[in-house]
Amino acid sequence: MRIGYIVGSLAQHSINRRLATALSGLAPEGVEFVEISIADLPLYSWDQDADFPAAALDFKEAVAGVDGVLFLTPEYNRSIPAALKNAIEWGSRPWGQSVWGGVPAGVIGTSPGSTGTAMAQQHLRNILAHLDMRVLGQPEAFVQAREGAIAATGEIQDDSLRAVLQGYVDALVAHVDAAARVAA
Ligand code: FNR
Repeated sequence: MRIGYIVGSLAQHSINRRLATALSGLAPEGVEFVEISIADLPLYSWDQDADFPAAALDFKEAVAGVDGVLFLTPEYNRSIPAALKNAIEWGSRPWGQSVWGGVPAGVIGTSPGSTGTAMAQQHLRNILAHLDMRVLGQPEAFVQAREGAIAATGEIQDDSLRAVLQGYVDALVAHVDAAARVAA
């Protein structure tokens, strides 16, 4: 099983990328987490629907090549970052050729605040429902980024956080697996 993860931050030292690395390290045997980068995507306009740029074609191909997608969203101004919304736009177009429909997905995120991206995640769920993605409902994980919880290398340094994240990964893997069985 291959789960593609999309980090909704362009920041060099993104704490959400750090979370992605931590989650990747918790993948069970036979499951691979691969990053689907949004860094090279230009700003979306439907002017380019008839002639998609190479970066957008690559992005759509990468999404089509995985069994499920994990979104890691930062919270910017109580919603998802523009860069993430932009990537979702590219994946949804041209009309009738969206890569998102029916794809099993997970939503998670981290921020220093106590709400741990809860509002951004809820906004993202709204968007993904419209795109007909099969989003894991539970568990939710609103990860507060605390000093010493996850090292820059992605190593989880807090046992209770490790247990929460392991539970999340296990549930996501089961969700993607169940979707694959239904499709088969
Ligand atoms: C933030 N941050 C933030 N945090 C939060 O919990 N709720 C919010 O609404 C916002 N708003 C916000 C807006 C903008 C423009 C920035 C740059 C930041 C703080 C944010 O959680 C923090 O910068 C994280 O490090 C962002 O995640 P990445 O980009 O490091 O993965």
